[in-house]
Amino acid sequence: MAHLLLRAGREPRQRGLRLHDAGDAPARHGGRRRSRRARRRAGFLGVDLGLKDRVAVVTGGAAGIGAAIAETLALEGCRVWIADRDFDAAGRTAAALPDGTSDRAVRLDVAEAVGVEEAFQEILRAEKRLDVVVCNAGVLRTQSFVESSAADWEAVSAVNLTGVLNCCRAASRPMLAAGRGRIVNIASISAARGGGSVGNVLYGTSKAGVVALTLGLAREFGPSGVTVNAIAPAIAETAMTRESLTEETRARIVARVPLRRLATPSDIADAVAFLASDRASFITGAVLPVDGGLLTT
Ligand SMILES: NC(=O)c1ccc[n+]([C@@H]2O[C@H](COP(=O)([O-])OP(=O)(O)OC[C@H]3O[C@@H](n4cnc5c(N)ncnc54)[C@H](O)[C@@H]3O)[C@@H](O)[C@H]2O)c1
Repeated sequence: MAHLLLRAGREPRQRGLRLHDAGDAPARHGGRRRSRRARRRAGFLGVDLGLKDRVAVVTGGAAGIGAAIAETLALEGCRVWIADRDFDAAGRTAAALPDGTSDRAVRLDVAEAVGVEEAFQEILRAEKRLDVVVCNAGVLRTQSFVESSAADWEAVSAVNLTGVLNCCRAASRPMLAAGRGRIVNIASISAARGGGSVGNVLYGTSKAGVVALTLGLAREFGPSGVTVNAIAPAIAETAMTRESLTEETRARIVARVPLRRLATPSDIADAVAFLASDRASFITGAVLPVDGGLLTT
């Protein structure tokens, strides 16, 4: 299917790495994807990401960024499993993927370690292999630290940090045994800033834990051929953020972003597909901002 695309015949510094489509991200997100033939006619050379027939699991893949990641990996040829606590939505999303089926939906609350192990066992029984795991499930609470309670931290950290840890542990055993695998954790730029535009200190702290986990696991798993990387997205409009994104907040954020827009779920999905691919075989322990340059400001 689609691939990293290098525009032919340009200076190296002008070359654009593109997934799926030559359009800009908003057009790509909302618009139709070009066929491979159309992209070739437009002067793009396909570079195979090597994801065909790889088995991928996306936690929290039923909606939002996770659904975009699932779609992108499926377009790249992966057999994608949607693992989500909303099982009905997971089934609908899995069935709507290219070559998808609701049979590749699994009920999963990432915060429940035993349930996570069982869900990964179910996938392994069905597929006999596990190549890519994207730890994407997350929750946001917005309040000032002084107004937050121990229960708020429990709720945020159980999903955002313990949940990622549970899934990394469950994924690591078959991957280490196979001597290969790709884990991509979805952190946030709020990890670097102790919160952010709409996320608060609790959220940022949980995401900082994801970054530390990613670095440590990259070191521990590297000798066995398993890479562990993270994506640090800036704010994207999804169910998680919609309520906080008033016109005023959106304008304030966009004015601070050097590339002058919010992230889209497909911006994040493209970065995940790259890190999950053979093209990223010497990259581990990286935390890749997908933020339009926001961290530079
Ligand atoms: N939206 C943003 O602006 C933004 C920015 C930076 C990072 N992120 C991160 O990206 C990830 C996805 O965010 P989103 O905006 O798509 O969120 P979303 O709320 O739109 O979707 C989250 C999905 O995760 C599932 N989920 C929630 N808790 C779960 C649990 N305990 N177990 C299993 N599934 C669970 C939900 O059912 C849903 O399908 C999160 O980790 C989030 O922190 C989002």
